[in-house]
Amino acid sequence: ETGAYTYDSGFSNTAAGFSNITYIDGANGTLRMRGYNLHDLVKHCSFREVAYLMVHGTLPSKNELDLFSKYLTEHSLVHEDMHHFFAGFPSDSHPMAILASMVTSLSSFYPDLNQEDSNFDITAARLISKVRTIAAFSYKKSKGQPIVYPRYDLYYCENFLHMMFGSPVRKYEIDPLHTKILDKLLILHIDHGQNCSTSAVKLIGSARANLYAAISAGICALWGPLHGGANQAVIEMFKCIRKDNNDIQKYINMAKDKSNPFRLMGFGHAVYKNYDPRARLAKELLDELFQKRNITDPLLDTARRLEDAALKDPYFQERKLYPNIDFYSGILYRAIGIPTNMLTVMFALGRLPGWIAQWKEFCDNKGRIYRPRQIYTGPGERPFVPIDQR
Ligand code: SDX
Repeated sequence: ETGAYTYDSGFSNTAAGFSNITYIDGANGTLRMRGYNLHDLVKHCSFREVAYLMVHGTLPSKNELDLFSKYLTEHSLVHEDMHHFFAGFPSDSHPMAILASMVTSLSSFYPDLNQEDSNFDITAARLISKVRTIAAFSYKKSKGQPIVYPRYDLYYCENFLHMMFGSPVRKYEIDPLHTKILDKLLILHIDHGQNCSTSAVKLIGSARANLYAAISAGICALWGPLHGGANQAVIEMFKCIRKDNNDIQKYINMAKDKSNPFRLMGFGHAVYKNYDPRARLAKELLDELFQKRNITDPLLDTARRLEDAALKDPYFQERKLYPNIDFYSGILYRAIGIPTNMLTVMFALGRLPGWIAQWKEFCDNKGRIYRPRQIYTGPGERPFVPIDQR
């Protein structure tokens, strides 16, 4: 991660600082996964292919992709006993709370995935597949609807939409354009170097806790509104602005006011000091979907006006603040039927292959346990005072 900032995470041991997975040039807005430009991967690949690339380091041959897809299909069910967990959550539970809990519980049902000797191809495919199923089940739980089991004749993204929007009384009709948009959106989120949630995954992994525990920590970190939770916060911000007479300038002024905790959600980035290439690609997908389906979304009008006003404002220009991945992704997910409370779950589904790849790379490199250092700023030594004298 070059250019935008020098970042001493305190994780100074080498395994934390070096990686051959994702290259980000924050100053120029460049993003490459395993050497491939993100634009090419989004244009030419399915999410399955790029997930394989992240975990294995190379794009799959046709046979390799078929085998990986077979693993994804064969491992799409979750243990029936896990269904009882869903019943225990309050109906208004946030799906990220359910996802994090259920992923941790996978280690109780699939202990072999913790062992070094397990076939990592299957390990990765099984986790990617089951987390997708858990995500769809958590949505059904939030809607009070019966869960819909995966189908073995559908690929990853089609199966997810089938489990999300199908029902025992109405078959989900596969929409190839929605499947394509979902495929591409998940690729846009697939990895992003040493971000907050990936750091959490590697930190837990550095203690040699199992992969589920590490991924569950990544899910929890991603939930934060300054990180992956921003995509939900962006949609809520757009809705607030529209309810507030679409007063764009009021929110620009609030974001500039240091005494106000409000930040323009979906804007700014710790690394990009240029337009986030993923936001640009998300806009292109939006234009394609909206033109082909002749649809509109009033939030898109608000988004475009907010972006335009912010990019013209000296406060944002001086600080090199641009739209990031979360600014447009929520509108795109809405357009294929994904509700606001599921947006960060979608980010987690996309990021999962990247987390797995980063965890594996760290463990393969025998990274040392993370032990960031602190600078002590507390009082000097003090004589003890018994409680009856305090
Ligand atoms: C993701 O790390 C990754 O790669 C993350 C991610 C990934 O794929 O994993 O890309 C995903 O998390 C994207 C970011 C999603 N979060 C948001 O959209 C929340 C809104 N953005 C801000 O909170 C902020 O921009 C962050 C959290 C993203 C970055 O925080 P930083 O690194 O502290 O921001 P900065 O140092 O670049 O800020 C510089 C200045 C500061 O003002 P000054 O002290 O110089 O006066 O810009 C200001 C900041 O206050 N600023 C903003 C702002 N973002 C930064 N002011 C108003 N609105 C904003 N959105």
